[in-house]
Amino acid sequence: MLSPARIAVLVSGGGTNLQALLDAQAAGRLPSGEIVLVVASNPGAYALERAKKAGVPGFAVSRRELGSQEAFEEDISALLRQYQVDLIILAGFLSILSADFTAKWPRRILNIHPSLIPAFCGKGMYGLKVHEAALAKGVKVTGATVHFVNEIPDGGEILLQKAVDILPGDTAEVLQRRVMEQAEWILLPQAAELVSAEIVKGRT
Ligand code: GAR
Repeated sequence: MLSPARIAVLVSGGGTNLQALLDAQAAGRLPSGEIVLVVASNPGAYALERAKKAGVPGFAVSRRELGSQEAFEEDISALLRQYQVDLIILAGFLSILSADFTAKWPRRILNIHPSLIPAFCGKGMYGLKVHEAALAKGVKVTGATVHFVNEIPDGGEILLQKAVDILPGDTAEVLQRRVMEQAEWILLPQAAELVSAEIVKGRT
């Protein structure tokens, strides 16, 4: 049996997408991957509690405390080396990674974004803001996208997408929850397995 791809999940907040990945792993839906590390961009992230409960090592790396993007990324890179990570998954990770960093991980960083890219994405578009923008525009369908990460925010190759209806009377919060339930928490574990399987296959 080949060893699974070693996955680091980078988070900033509540971590429901991290939970979806942990649940998928526990249910045997991530056979080609193993979540070995969680890194949070802020020490108060509830995602760190989720990691702890699942027995996965979790660390906070604060850009503000470290003072520079270089120091922030060097600390993350040191953790990735220490845990021999093969695949990075951004699951609600709200810090931008530099072109230097992303260039070192071609097709090895995944991100989940809560819209159908290229709609409502790019710099400054994250979390509830994405759903507020979709409601303001009056679109009737939104969704989620999993894509590879390159130097352009939300600009990397699209791997999976799923559409979700917008219903009359939706608030941003209601819509966010529906997009998570109907798209994000399904797509992200699927994408993790797809790329993990590719990594494992590449080792043979
Ligand atoms: C998710 O909706 C994710 O798609 C979004 O932040 C939320 C994090 O929730 N990410 C972005 O907007 C990235 N541009 P979570 O911490 O509960 O997974």
